[in-house]
Amino acid sequence: MGWSCVVACAVAFFLMLNKVSALTSDIFAAGKSDKEILDNLLKNSRYDKRLLPPVDGVLTVNVSVLLLSLASPDESSLKYEVEFLLQQQWYDPRLRYSNQSHYDFLNAIHHHEDIWLPDTYFIMHGDFKDPIIPMHFALRIYRNGTINYLMRRHLILSCQGRLNIFPFDDPLCSFALESISYEQSAITYVWKNDEDTLRKSPSLTTLNAYLIQNQTIPCPIKASWRGNYSCLKVDLIFTRDRSFYFTTVFIPGIILVTSSFITFWLEWNAVPARVMIGVTTMLNFFTTSNGFRSTLPVVSNLTAMNVWDGVCMCFIYASLLEFVCVNYVGRKRPLHNVVYRPGENPVTQGDKKRDSTGAADLVTCTACTGAPGPCTHTTNNGGVSEVRKKEPPHPIRVAKTIDVIARITFPTAYAVFLIFFFIHYKAFS
Ligand SMILES: *[C@@H]1O[C@H](CO)[C@@H](O)[C@H](O)[C@H]1NC(C)=O
Ligand SMILES: *[C@@H]1O[C@H](CO)[C@@H](O)[C@H](O)[C@H]1NC(C)=O
Ligand SMILES: *[C@@H]1O[C@H](CO)[C@@H](O)[C@H](O)[C@H]1NC(C)=O
Ligand SMILES: *[C@@H]1O[C@H](CO)[C@@H](O)[C@H](O)[C@H]1NC(C)=O
Ligand SMILES: *[C@@H]1O[C@H](CO)[C@@H](O)[C@H](O)[C@H]1NC(C)=O
Repeated sequence: MGWSCVVACAVAFFLMLNKVSALTSDIFAAGKSDKEILDNLLKNSRYDKRLLPPVDGVLTVNVSVLLLSLASPDESSLKYEVEFLLQQQWYDPRLRYSNQSHYDFLNAIHHHEDIWLPDTYFIMHGDFKDPIIPMHFALRIYRNGTINYLMRRHLILSCQGRLNIFPFDDPLCSFALESISYEQSAITYVWKNDEDTLRKSPSLTTLNAYLIQNQTIPCPIKASWRGNYSCLKVDLIFTRDRSFYFTTVFIPGIILVTSSFITFWLEWNAVPARVMIGVTTMLNFFTTSNGFRSTLPVVSNLTAMNVWDGVCMCFIYASLLEFVCVNYVGRKRPLHNVVYRPGENPVTQGDKKRDSTGAADLVTCTACTGAPGPCTHTTNNGGVSEVRKKEPPHPIRVAKTIDVIARITFPTAYAVFLIFFFIHYKAFS
C-alpha cells in the first residue's frame, strides 16, 4: 500500500518534471506557432508589464517620424494638420525568443495591453485629431528582443507666424514628445540615426501646406518643460503660397490704385468721369480688402497688411482729393481777368508772352471787350506785356499744372512705395 503510493508519487513527479523541462526547452522551438510563442512569452509568471525592461543603465527609445500628410484649412491659417507615423524602438530582454523560431518578428498587435510600452505623450499647441489613445498601430517583437512600436498620429498644430510680416512669413510648427512618468535616468529618447529621422512618405499628400524646412532635435534645455525628463522636438517650417497673395491682394490693389491715377489725364472739368473713377476705385478697394481681411486670423499685429491697405487707400483718396482741388481752383474767378489760352505751356507762359506779337494780344483784347480792368485795347506791346508778366497765372492754367505735377508725382511715389514695401517685407525671398 505504502510502496505503491510512493512509486505512484515518484512516477507522477518524474512525469511532471519531464513535462516542465520539455516546456522550457520547447517554448521557442521551430514548430511552435507565433501565437504560442507570444502566449508563452507574456505569461504572467514570466513577464510583468509593470516593470521597465531590465536593461543595463538607461532604457533607450529610438524614435523616428514618417510624414503622411500635411494640410492647412486655408491659405492664411496658422493651424496645420500633420499626420505621421511615429516609430519607437526599444530593447526588452524579457521578450527575446532566440533564433530557433523561424519568425523574424512576432506580430503582437493584440497584446497591446499586455506589453510594457513607453508612456510617450505630445507637448504641443493644438489638438489631437484622433483619440489620445492610439487606435492605429503596429507592434512587432523581434527575435533579439527589439520591439518596434508604430502608431499613426494626427495633430492639429497651432503654429507661430511672424504676423507683422504676414503674408510673407514662414510659420513654424513644433511639437515635442516626452515620457510622462519616467525621468531621464529611466528612459532616454533619441532620434534614430540610421536614416533621416523625419522622412516623407513617398505618397505624402499636402494641401495648402508647403514644408520648406524641418528639424529634429533634442529639446533645448530652456524649452523642456520639466527639466529632467528626456524630450525630443520636431520643428516644421512652412511657407505660404506667395502667388496666391499676389493674385488676390497685391495685383488687384496695384490695379485699383493705378486706375485711380487715370483721373490726372482727364480734363480738369470732367466732373462725372473723374468723380466716378475716384469713388469707384475707392469703394472697390474697400470691398476687396475687407473681403480678404475676413479670411485672416483675428489678430492685432498684421503690420504689413495694415501698411498695404493704409497706403493704397491714401493714394486712392489723395487722387480723388486732387481732383476736388483741381476743380475748385479751375472754377475760381480769375484775378485781373486774365484770359486762358489753351496750348500754352504753363511754365513758359511768361516768356512766350514777351515774344508774342499782335496775334496773342488780339485774342486777349477781343475776349475782354466790355470788361473793366487793366485789359486795354492799345496794342502797345512793350507796356502791356510788362504788366502781364507780373499777373498771376490763370486759374485753369494752375489747375492744369496741378494735374501735370500729379501725373508725375503720384505714380512715382507709388512705385517707390511698392519697391520699399516688397523689399522691406522680403516678399521675394
Ligand atoms: C537605438 O539607436 C542606437 C544608436 O543610435 C543603437 O545603438 C541601438 O541599437 C538602437 N536601439 C534599438 C532598440 O534599435
Ligand atoms: C542562432 O543560434 C545558434 C545556436 O543556437 C547560433 O550559433 C547562431 O549564431 C544564432 N544565430 C543568430 C542570428 O543569432
Ligand atoms: C534586432 O533585430 C532587428 C531586426 O532584425 C534589428 O533591426 C535590430 O537592430 C536588432 N537589435 C539589436 C540590438 O541587435
Ligand atoms: C528634413 O530636412 C533634411 C535636411 O535638413 C532633409 O534631408 C529631409 O528630406 C527633410 N525631410 C522632409 C520630410 O522634408
Ligand atoms: C529633477 O529635477 C528636480 C528639480 O530640478 C529635482 O528636484 C529632482 O531631484 C530631479 N530628479 C532627478 C531624478 O534628478
